[in-house]
Amino acid sequence: MAEVSLPFESKYWPYKKYSEMYNRSLRDPESFWDKEARKLDWFKTWDTVLDWQPPFARWFVGGKLNACYQCVDRHIKTWRRSKVAIYWESELGESRILSYSTLYRAVNKFASVLKNLGVGKGDKVALYLPMIPELPISMLACSRIGAIHTVIFSGFSAQALADRLNDTQAKLLVTVDAGFRRGKPLKLKEIVEEAISLSPSIEKTIVIRRAGIAVEMKSGRDFWLHDLLAKAAPFVPPEPVESNHPLYILYTSGTTGKPKGIVHSTGGYCVFNHSMYQWVFDIKEESVYWCTADVGWVTGHSSIVYAPLIHGAAQVLYEGTPDYPAVDRYWDIIEKYGVTIFYTSPTAIRMLMRYGEEPVKKHDLSSLEVLGSVGEAINPEAWLWYYKNIGGERCPIVDTWWQTETGGIMISPTPGIECVPLKPGSVTFPLPGIAADIVGEGGQPVPPGEKGYLVIKAPWPGMLMGIHQDPQRYQESYWSKFPGMFYTGDYAIRDNDGYFWILGRADEVLKIAGHRIGTIEIEDAAVSHPAVAEAAVASKPDPIKGQSLVIFAILKQGVSPSPELNKEIKEHIRHTIGPVAIPDEIYFIAKLPKTRSGKIMRRVLRAVASDASVGDLSTLEDEASVEEVKRAYEELKREV
Ligand code: PRX
Repeated sequence: MAEVSLPFESKYWPYKKYSEMYNRSLRDPESFWDKEARKLDWFKTWDTVLDWQPPFARWFVGGKLNACYQCVDRHIKTWRRSKVAIYWESELGESRILSYSTLYRAVNKFASVLKNLGVGKGDKVALYLPMIPELPISMLACSRIGAIHTVIFSGFSAQALADRLNDTQAKLLVTVDAGFRRGKPLKLKEIVEEAISLSPSIEKTIVIRRAGIAVEMKSGRDFWLHDLLAKAAPFVPPEPVESNHPLYILYTSGTTGKPKGIVHSTGGYCVFNHSMYQWVFDIKEESVYWCTADVGWVTGHSSIVYAPLIHGAAQVLYEGTPDYPAVDRYWDIIEKYGVTIFYTSPTAIRMLMRYGEEPVKKHDLSSLEVLGSVGEAINPEAWLWYYKNIGGERCPIVDTWWQTETGGIMISPTPGIECVPLKPGSVTFPLPGIAADIVGEGGQPVPPGEKGYLVIKAPWPGMLMGIHQDPQRYQESYWSKFPGMFYTGDYAIRDNDGYFWILGRADEVLKIAGHRIGTIEIEDAAVSHPAVAEAAVASKPDPIKGQSLVIFAILKQGVSPSPELNKEIKEHIRHTIGPVAIPDEIYFIAKLPKTRSGKIMRRVLRAVASDASVGDLSTLEDEASVEEVKRAYEELKREV
């Protein structure tokens, strides 16, 4: 294991409570996590806290538990049976309120439906659903019976859905007739039909009636949920699983065209989520929490489903977008339910900032106590607007850094322990148990003020177990750049006070409106259009989305560029991946800037896309000479 330095007795760490806990957690992680794990309900206690066979960590080995039991059963044994679990709000303002006991009943019945369709422990179930209560219900129903869920974001296209189904080999898929997006039905069952024709593993589907539109149902394969529920049992015993039984697989983008199926455990994941949620959000029995993320991403898995429900928290689940039907939608919901903890993305804040303070002032936001930010860096201007206008200058902002792979929040202020002084744009300090550091090319820690790679030097319970069916890719992606350290793929810097600042991705992964997309995935989608011979993707700064996409495309011989073709390629990408991957610009060019060894000079693309200079050439990230880079830059600039 890499040596973890503890610089925390120094002047950086005047925060006594936090630094005492942090130091204790790193000095003796096993006894620290052992104590944290005892806060959950286990059917059998573990034999070993951590079995670390790098790069594979197994936590709480031999322990038996059930994730769904943590989320519902343990609450209905207490007064919380009558506590609100979910305030669901539809796009148009309908609401459905589920108490812990109604959630418990719904989950049990759904679990019975799954069992009646032949789903059992270890089977994979795909969930392709909008933000309706049945999404967390079906996730919990899977974990109740030991089935492994894989949620696919409902904004993905048929092809992207099929790719993920084929990788997981899911046998059952749950969907809706249609969801709603800005008042229009988004016909998910129709997309599923196309995806299933490419995914032979799917034997059955469950369809939830949400929009009430007519859909094609294939007899013997497709079943309406309401028909199945009529025959469901009211109780299904929770299946005790070993701590390292996979809870779910969630796909995310990496540096190749193929998405990675990130596998999370049951025990370690639940323990980590339980602890981090308390530390970061200072959750209290009377809190009303709202995370605006989609459950289709990791934020939703951890920060909507598992962490809040394990705590027995009351939360809002919202179906729609921030500005529909009106630009004060978020503020209206905060007032309606008396939200105390509000967790959203920088993109949403920047978007809502554009409308000024008037829509905010129409609402009483005095219930708010803690604000959160996630998914991308928040610029100081947006941070200050959020702090002043939404938090009324009294709520700390927890800027939370984490990843699909980390399972939960890793670096963030922790008002649940001690609120350190905040700096707009900084994620502050790592959570207890998280051995975060910033290192240079050789793996050596960099001094304050110097940019380096963000790494984690010891396993933590929320850490991914691996990549589904690809241990080699797991090893290569995370553990080969710096042996013994988990490589996050992000650049970061620590300032003179020891605060962490995240500087963005160091690899070929982009963050567009907080969504994680690989450049190669988009390039593959572009070249699958018959007119495109070669394509390279770059990002440029965007005032709302943080980054936006630009494609440089070389057309096949004989094909002429035209605005129609430009539109057609965008449509093709939308159809292949989904709306999140549609580029803002496509430039048709004759030649891509490449090094002699054939590597695309991405820095040149970035500079041209953002209309910036090519910047500091002292580090030759593209293995090209300074002259080559300059020449390629000038040539490409002339072309676009
Ligand atoms: O680049 C970092 C950025 O989002 C990446 C992880 O993306 P994903 O797996 O989709 O998970 C996002 C939600 C947890 C990171 O590698 N990122 C995440 N949070 C922050 C961030 N960048 C800056 N500041 C953050 N708070």
